[in-house]
Amino acid sequence: MIHFTLNGEPQALALDPATPLLWVLRDHLGLTGTKYGCGEGACGACIVQLDGEPVKSCSTPLSAVEGRSVQTIEGLSPDGRHPLQLAWVLEEVPQCGYCQSGQIMMAAALLARYPRPTDAQIDAAMSEVLCRCGSYARIRRAIHRAATPEVQGG
Ligand code: FES
Ligand code: FES
Repeated sequence: MIHFTLNGEPQALALDPATPLLWVLRDHLGLTGTKYGCGEGACGACIVQLDGEPVKSCSTPLSAVEGRSVQTIEGLSPDGRHPLQLAWVLEEVPQCGYCQSGQIMMAAALLARYPRPTDAQIDAAMSEVLCRCGSYARIRRAIHRAATPEVQGG
């Protein structure tokens, strides 16, 4: 039995400890906001936060989350009004949308570390998450916007 916290709620799962966290989230818990891209740790579509740090859930076995806290895009905000989500809408960031939950979870970890990130800090973090639609310029604008007090106030 693996015990962990998921979006603030306790979980106890009797699954193979080697099961990738991505499949646990999507197939066993029905949280499909986290996406499968490459399945080998290269694209970032599957990023969630583990104790506040971004991790690629396709490459994270369930055993690695024992006793720890996992946050997915579904747990970022109770009402979809996290500053990043508001800024994403205002800047019309997504194109196809497939990469975007990974982008937002990476951006949330970035803002937790750097509340007013520079362009270089944004680019360094966000280059970890591939966007085949090329939304990086809008992502950068949205992160700066999410870091402003007006957006943080909702
Ligand atoms: S699906 Fe996990 S890094 Fe691509
Ligand atoms: S919005 Fe299409 S891959 Fe990023």
